[in-house]
Amino acid sequence: MSLSVSCTLSAAMVLATVALASAQTPAPTLAIPKALQAEHHDLFESLEAATKAGGKTGEAAKRAMAVLKPHFEKEERFALPQLGALETLTRKGAAVPAGLREDLIRRTDSFRAELDGMLAEHKQISAALKDMREAAAQEKKDDVAELAEMITGHAEMEEQVLYPAALLVGEYARAMSGVTGSTP
Ligand SMILES: [Fe+2]
Ligand SMILES: [Fe+2]
Repeated sequence: MSLSVSCTLSAAMVLATVALASAQTPAPTLAIPKALQAEHHDLFESLEAATKAGGKTGEAAKRAMAVLKPHFEKEERFALPQLGALETLTRKGAAVPAGLREDLIRRTDSFRAELDGMLAEHKQISAALKDMREAAAQEKKDDVAELAEMITGHAEMEEQVLYPAALLVGEYARAMSGVTGSTP
């Protein structure tokens, strides 16, 4: 075998290996920002404690938990992981791998499909929290009444900031999809 044929074959093998490796490279995993994870955890734990408060307050907290738990799970699946890419996307001149962009676009499409349902869940949660706040006020359980306000504020912040930011991350990734190597 001549040297040139051998080099050509080696180059082809290298290219094939790189192509195979890139096809097999999984999309980077996106971690929910720690501050958001901590906030969900704290609110969940506090509501869990309120379900044991007894009386009408405890019953109202159980009804709130029945809608809040699956809602939080849905958010942690569809809405919050994209926000873990914010730091990478906004770093000046940062390389953003195609796998990450594709993952963000996919996640955004899934989130949009769930969005109306999640906003409807916020309304259900808000109604359940209103009952919880009123029961807690009657039964002088001020910490539970305060918790109802905190969770209501959390949902408002999501609708006004986090959900739009999560969608924007995906739309930014979509806009970048023809660009390689750095932010546009
Ligand atoms: Fe949430
Ligand atoms: Fe929410």
